[in-house]
Amino acid sequence: GAAGTPAATRHPLEVALEGLRRLEYRGYDSAGVALAGPGQARIAFAKKSGKLNNLVGELDAHPLPDATAAIGHTRWATHGGPTDVNAHPHLADDDKLAVIHNGIIENFAQLKAELLADGVFFRSETDTEVAAALLAREYASTKDLTAAMAATARRLEGTFTLLAVHADDPLTVVGARHDSPLVVGLGDGENFLGSDVAAFIAFTKEALELGQDQIVTITPTSVTVTDFHGKPADAKRFTVDWDAAAAEKSGFDSFMDKEIHDQPHAVADTLLGRTDLDGRLTLDEIRIDESVLRSIDKIIVIACGTAAYAGHVAKYAVEHWCRIPVEVELAHEFRYRDPIVNEKTLVVAISQSGETMDTLMAVRHAREQGAKVLSIVNTQGSTIPRESDAVLYTHAGPEIAVASTKAFLSQITAAYLLGLYLAQLRGNKFPDEIAALLNELRGLPAKVQTVIERGEYVRATARSMKDATSVLFLGRHVGFPVALEGALKLKELAYIHAEGFAAGELKHGPIALIDEGQPVFVVVPSPRSRDGLHSKVVSNIQEIRARGARTLVIAEDGDDEVRKYADEIFWIPAAPTLLQPLLAVVPLQIFAMALATAKGLDVDQPRNLAKSVTVE
Ligand code: G6P
Repeated sequence: GAAGTPAATRHPLEVALEGLRRLEYRGYDSAGVALAGPGQARIAFAKKSGKLNNLVGELDAHPLPDATAAIGHTRWATHGGPTDVNAHPHLADDDKLAVIHNGIIENFAQLKAELLADGVFFRSETDTEVAAALLAREYASTKDLTAAMAATARRLEGTFTLLAVHADDPLTVVGARHDSPLVVGLGDGENFLGSDVAAFIAFTKEALELGQDQIVTITPTSVTVTDFHGKPADAKRFTVDWDAAAAEKSGFDSFMDKEIHDQPHAVADTLLGRTDLDGRLTLDEIRIDESVLRSIDKIIVIACGTAAYAGHVAKYAVEHWCRIPVEVELAHEFRYRDPIVNEKTLVVAISQSGETMDTLMAVRHAREQGAKVLSIVNTQGSTIPRESDAVLYTHAGPEIAVASTKAFLSQITAAYLLGLYLAQLRGNKFPDEIAALLNELRGLPAKVQTVIERGEYVRATARSMKDATSVLFLGRHVGFPVALEGALKLKELAYIHAEGFAAGELKHGPIALIDEGQPVFVVVPSPRSRDGLHSKVVSNIQEIRARGARTLVIAEDGDDEVRKYADEIFWIPAAPTLLQPLLAVVPLQIFAMALATAKGLDVDQPRNLAKSVTVE
């Protein structure tokens, strides 16, 4: 949700809609707004299923009266289908009160029974309407929206961010959060609330990070924060370092296209300012005792989706540099399997949004077991950094397209910085070796740029393959997680069955899938790498080609050997083995985007997906 109580110059409805536009990646099953204004006995509202544009169309057809406070919501359905009725806001108190909600209220059936017995009438099937009715009942007895919200929050179980406006007090928006995101934007004569800072960066960069279980009340000139019992609470002030233009498409057809083009910057900015004058890595933000970091005997990376593949890539580098075992596990699996974690374990949580509920729960679990948690996160003011022992921010800027691209490159970069830092601290590497590796990393953005500039050939190939029904991806060593990520991009964007395999595993099963014309992407290691993997993968290509596969090969400039066996070849600049993933993944991203576009699909908002999955 997004909300505003703006100054005279800005219309609250426009502020809320602009916020929703910038948050649409969080959910696009339905959208709605509610407005309060002086002299208006009831809340004005509109809600529509489908994307935000449907709501905008509805508002054009049936304009709402001017207002002094507005709240808005885009929904990603959990309980109840994406219909107009189930869309938020939900109203109560004879339409004098409106509520929007993110999360899941687990005890809603019990609360609903209690309210039904009280004679309350419900219009929708949602848990949110139950919260609205409860809030109305509390308000009836206190006539104080903030106190009523606190009382309501105390009764709810599950996860929730709730925002409410009441016609009696049209200058106020009240919010509550429990295990679900909410950030405050501080303006001059106007204040804002949003699920993340992207909602209000067009209006202000000054923000307040709320803690768990807090109530926030904003008016145009005040912000007050309390706990669920009305006791004043602290919130941390910070300045958002994203600029508003970074959240615009700036001339590209889609956010995804723009974000793919942002990648050289995402890598460069993540490296920036993290060395001292002597070239030593100085990750001051890692506020974990150096003695603790020296004594850790295991690293566990927890993440979901693309972030987990970034962790998978980092495992190869960090084990090689630091000689510490690194496990990589999906956060939701880690959380529920009784993992072996103790004070000597460093848990690294990777998340673009900083809000993924599965990852957050795993972070809490790890800390309960005594582990130190370091998070690698892109979004300031989000929850995972707040609940970690330390955070290393990626500086990719806002990522709006649902499928992750630039976050992946910046996550690998940050994880590599962490690996080199640990190697430096623990004496696994000589300073000049670390300096040399850092130099290689600094040379990477220019190479990523080269891969992007070669994109047209990838796009043309993708367009010619728009009727493909299945695509396979092979890779070995660090190329393996790249293959997995390539397959994920194609599933997410183009809805095509795609699978990634370790090339060495081919003979143990997947090769049975190969028949005439089966497209197979292969990420080929550098012919200069001394581990012999290049010739192994080239043999794999011959094996599948002999069985009819159409081979689409990603290879290093000048690799003449592989040229003979490739049906299509996408060249990438030469780079050390461990850095190759940051180049090899780029053609796969472009391929998935171009193929989805050729099929007429919306690459920024794929069906059924949400960017920040804030429910378990
Ligand atoms: C969702 C998104 C993915 C993303 C994953 C992890 O599933 O659709 O693109 O990789 O969450 O998100 P995070 O914000 O934790 O990196």
